Amino acid sequence: MSQFFSNCSVNALASAAQSLREGSLVAFPTETVYGLGADATNAQAVARIYEVKGRPSDHPLIVHIADLKYLDQWIADIPEYAIALAREFWPGPMTLILKRSDLAKDFITGGQNTVGIRIPDNSLALGLLEAFHKLGGAGIAAPSANRFGQVSPTTAKAVQEELGDYLSEVDLVLDGGQSAVGVESTIIDCTGEIPRILRPGAITEAMAESVIKVKVAENSSTDSIGSVIRVSGSLKNHYAPKAKVILDQTPIAGSGFIALEKIPTPAGVIRLAAPRSVDEFARLLYESMRAGDHQNLATIYIEQPKGEGIAVAIRDRLLKASKSR
Ligand code: TXA
Ligand code: MG
Repeated sequence: MSQFFSNCSVNALASAAQSLREGSLVAFPTETVYGLGADATNAQAVARIYEVKGRPSDHPLIVHIADLKYLDQWIADIPEYAIALAREFWPGPMTLILKRSDLAKDFITGGQNTVGIRIPDNSLALGLLEAFHKLGGAGIAAPSANRFGQVSPTTAKAVQEELGDYLSEVDLVLDGGQSAVGVESTIIDCTGEIPRILRPGAITEAMAESVIKVKVAENSSTDSIGSVIRVSGSLKNHYAPKAKVILDQTPIAGSGFIALEKIPTPAGVIRLAAPRSVDEFARLLYESMRAGDHQNLATIYIEQPKGEGIAVAIRDRLLKASKSR
């Protein structure tokens, strides 16, 4: 069983950073979802991430840093448009895929010649990262802190539920309350002439285009020569609760229901969330799917939010959740 910290003082963050340097795992909040962190230069520590998550080891990890000044050491090259994106949207819910340097080893990149980098926008995450850099750390590798294929955790309690049985007593879980965004970061492949969104998130295609004045390519998980880029979230059976997820159909009595507040709950249906906005929908989505599982519901009906913005990311995750069985 890991240690659980709910009041993260500067001292607690410094000692968590020290634990990371010693090879422990530290789960921490970000604005998107909670991450399971390890020193991104420590092969043994990173191997434990895969063990604890039950994730295949050829799936690459995102390296988190506190500031742009820590970016150069991780990458071999960066196009102008990616610099513009980084300046505009970091810290924030955006991961850039860039050509890797020698520091980004195969155990981080899944053997690819690229590395995913992000500066998260969460004070606790940034405090941990700053403390970690102060100790000479280059970056914290962190996938979402869930078992492979499951719903990402947006609270520390959800991390404990997901991973408590797999973490050891040297590992830590930092509690920073509920994640503000609720769905994982936008992943943008910046290794080609133009950027390409691999996973939609809170930073949308339109937002990216408004900054770089070039077209952003459509969401796709295959590269130009047709080989599959390993974005684990792009597997269809992902982001799924235990309950069966059915989209955009009238819920039957005894099942769970997630929809915007304005949509009424049919008789006998268990309302799991009634968000007032699409942003709130994203924030509550994973917790409400978990609530359905806690109540052992066999089926959760979800009325998808329409339109652009973060609704695109919500529908992306829901499509995968609904295809999982
Ligand atoms: O919001 C987030 O991105 C969260 C927080 C903790 O930062 N992290 C997260 O990590 O969602 P993870 O590992 O659950 O999902 C990251 C995705 C994976 O699908 C992985 O395959 C992809 O990013 N990825 C990482 N590095 C990559 C690379 N070099 N090329 C292509 N995809 C990459
Ligand atoms: Mg994940």
